[in-house]
Amino acid sequence: MSLSSPKVNQSNSEGGLTHLLTLEDMPREQIIHILDTAQQFVSVSNPNREVKKVPLLRGKSVFNLFFENSTRTRTTFEIAANRLSADIINLDIPTSSTSKGESLIDTIDNLIAMQADIFVVRHNISRAPIEIAQHVPDYVHVINAGDGSHQHPTQGLLDVFTMRHFKKDFSKLKVAIIGDILHSRVAKSNIHALSTLGCTDIRAIGPESLLPNDLASELSKFGVKTFHQVEDGIRDADVVMTLRIQKERMEQGQVPEGDAFFKQFGLTSSRLAMAKSDAIVMHPGPMNRGVEIDSAVADGPQSVILNQVTFGIAIRMAVMSIVAGN
Ligand code: CP
Repeated sequence: MSLSSPKVNQSNSEGGLTHLLTLEDMPREQIIHILDTAQQFVSVSNPNREVKKVPLLRGKSVFNLFFENSTRTRTTFEIAANRLSADIINLDIPTSSTSKGESLIDTIDNLIAMQADIFVVRHNISRAPIEIAQHVPDYVHVINAGDGSHQHPTQGLLDVFTMRHFKKDFSKLKVAIIGDILHSRVAKSNIHALSTLGCTDIRAIGPESLLPNDLASELSKFGVKTFHQVEDGIRDADVVMTLRIQKERMEQGQVPEGDAFFKQFGLTSSRLAMAKSDAIVMHPGPMNRGVEIDSAVADGPQSVILNQVTFGIAIRMAVMSIVAGN
């Protein structure tokens, strides 16, 4: 994991967002604009609203290209596109011509020939959405839905939206992120967004194998403090975020297995009691109960895990409407 990547151009000459590829170096005004726009879209999904749609993307085609599995991101992008009145096409990657050896760029060219306007791309290869964005014509927009261990910008945005909703002022927040920091695109996007928004107390907590010295020194440049004991890092936190152990991105034996990990790093009620009494508990999902989090905490009164999912719809509506307007 590296927190700093080569510069990415995702804005036009007027500073308008044309793609969403990373939260690294995204100006504060752009993040706030997305959060404020999402706030306006929350009411579109109100259960009491008869027609949960606005016509902002009518006539536009959004292509969901998920080369890696997803429940939350893929579905909420689909819901968001529907609520903006776009046509949404979910490409079924396992049955697509990718399995016959077609290259990613050839697939993209063919979808552009079908008049695609927005590509939402999840890929196991870091920076694949950036490669696509550098290839497409100006009128096509690319949104990164999670690439390898690089970035998950809409997750980072929905996470800071959730924190702002419950906690208001970033400058006073103490945020503890626990678990597989090394492989986490979510942790990276959160750290970039939080530091840009003025959060000065971010803690990364995990075993030495997932928080090695070189990563700790890189994190320190963003003001992130590292801890190898949950009890040391969680104290007085306002926000406690746990992360899934990404076995698919690590070598065998890199972390204590199952029960052993839970004993050392699992978020239990007794550990959560060391944070502030009104701390919120977050998890980007998918969640492994009994590994990184106890069910009593995941389903407890401080959990905002399902609020994150719901806010994801408004964030994705905001991002798609903003890039399509630039
Ligand atoms: N948080 C997240 O990216 O979940 P999915 O993998 O289900 O999309």
